[in-house]
Amino acid sequence: MNSSNPEHDALSLLNARRSVPAKQLDAPGPDEATLLRMLRSAVRVPDHGKRVPFRFLRITGSDRDALGERLAARSQARDPDIGEGALDKDRRRFSHAPMVIVVVAVLDPDDTKIPEVERLLTAGSVCFALLQAAQALGFGASWLSGWPAYDAEILALLGLGGNERVAGFIHIGTPRIEAPERERPDPAALLTDWHAP
Ligand SMILES: Cc1cc2nc3c(=O)[nH]c(=O)nc-3n(C[C@H](O)[C@H](O)[C@H](O)COP(=O)(O)O)c2cc1C
Repeated sequence: MNSSNPEHDALSLLNARRSVPAKQLDAPGPDEATLLRMLRSAVRVPDHGKRVPFRFLRITGSDRDALGERLAARSQARDPDIGEGALDKDRRRFSHAPMVIVVVAVLDPDDTKIPEVERLLTAGSVCFALLQAAQALGFGASWLSGWPAYDAEILALLGLGGNERVAGFIHIGTPRIEAPERERPDPAALLTDWHAP
C-alpha cells in the first residue's frame, strides 16, 4: 500500500470493513468521548431536506440484561411453545457486546415533501457510517435487527414513538477474534450500461 497516497489509505480502510459478530465483541466498549467521535462521523450522512430523521439510544451495563429478560418474556408471550434454547438466545441478545446503539429512524408522518423511503435510507446510512467509524477507531461492530426491531411492545419498551422505527441495533465492542472475510459480490457482474432506446 502506498501510504503517501491519502486516497489509497481511505479506500483501504473502507475496503477492510467487515462485521464482527456480536458474540465476539467484548468489553471495553467506547468511552463517552470515543462514542461521540463515532457519532460525529455517523451523522455526516446525506440527508434530503436536512430533516435529521434519526436519533440514538444507548444500551449498556445491566440494562442489556434487563432488556434481555423482557425480550424473553415477550418471546414466550408471542409463542408459548417456544423452546428454552430460543428463549436463552433472546435473553442474551443484547448482553454480548458492551454497548448497543439503537439507531432510531424518526419519520414525521406530516412530512409530505421528502418521501419516507428517503428518510429511512438516511437512517440506514447512519447505521453503516457508525459501523465504519467504530472500526476506524479500533472497535468491532455489527448491525443487527431481528424480531425485536419489529415488535410493537418492544418498541414501546424502548420508548419509540408511533412515528419511529428501529433502523438498526449497532452492537459495538472490542473484537475477540479477527472476523473472517466473506465472499463479496463482484461489482463488474452487477454493472450494466443504460443506453437510450
Ligand atoms: C438492516 C440489517 C439488519 C440485519 N440484521 C441482522 C440480524 O438480525 N442478524 C444477523 O445475523 N445479521 C443481520 N444483518 C447482517 C449483518 O449486519 C452483516 O452484514 C452480515 O453478518 C455480513 O457481514 P459483513 O457486514 O461483514 O458483510 C443485518 C444487516 C442489515 C443491513
